Amino acid sequence: MTKKQVEESIAYLQGKGFEAPEVGIVLGTGLGQLIDHIEDKIEAHYNNIPFFPLATVEFHSGKLVYGNLHGKKVVVMQGRFHFYEGYDLIDVTYPIRVMHGLGIKHLFISNAAGAINPAFKKGEIMLLEDHINLQGGSPLAFKGVAQFGERFVDMSQPYDKAMSDTLKEIASQENITLHEGVYAAVVGPQLETRAEYRMLKIIGADAVGMSTVPEVIVANHLNLPIVALSVLTDECDPDNLAPINIPEIIEVAGKAEPKMIRLFTELIQRL
Ligand code: HPA
Repeated sequence: MTKKQVEESIAYLQGKGFEAPEVGIVLGTGLGQLIDHIEDKIEAHYNNIPFFPLATVEFHSGKLVYGNLHGKKVVVMQGRFHFYEGYDLIDVTYPIRVMHGLGIKHLFISNAAGAINPAFKKGEIMLLEDHINLQGGSPLAFKGVAQFGERFVDMSQPYDKAMSDTLKEIASQENITLHEGVYAAVVGPQLETRAEYRMLKIIGADAVGMSTVPEVIVANHLNLPIVALSVLTDECDPDNLAPINIPEIIEVAGKAEPKMIRLFTELIQRL
């Protein structure tokens, strides 16, 4: 990745009309319906954007969508790149650099995650308060990083406090249960063993998933304020662990999604 490549991606999108978006949004697995709320849409398929990571066949629908959401200009990633698909962490986070270059001032991230904290139930939502990177790498560990900013990025407050507080306020006004907790990012794509779920609990994780943390690290590299929500799709109780059911995970994500959309669309109006 070079600065010039990122600039060419940005120029292509600006040429298509992606003019000065204020907010970037990353939609997680099973969480695509927010797109229906966007007006005056312009779309760019990942495969057509110069220097974007090449989308795999199973991922052909991945696209960036630009438009208006409650009067604010947004750019939305419908489908993200995962480390477990074989992309490296620089590829996974490339779109964040491009959205930042387009001008976004805030980033909202969503994901589907397993609940580790026994008080958190499937179908509920967790606001990320902090995270643990268990992916064994960093999107900042590359030779040219100095071209893009600091090497030693502070992570003492990775999630934006003001936007997080606003989300909690909205949740309480709208009667939406919003937990707060620590998200652990693993590589996947295999799910965790019982012993791994026990370990995750011991080390302080409240939820576990296979994404988000690389994007959050790069957003911090760019000084881009972020909030992130996990839709909890399954309960990871090591002593009563049923085999994973992926269709059910996607179904639970879809059912909880309206609450996530409510939180994000209300937040956008209060920025
Ligand atoms: N583990 C990892 N990723 C997940 C899970 C899980 O239990 N549920 C949804 N995404």
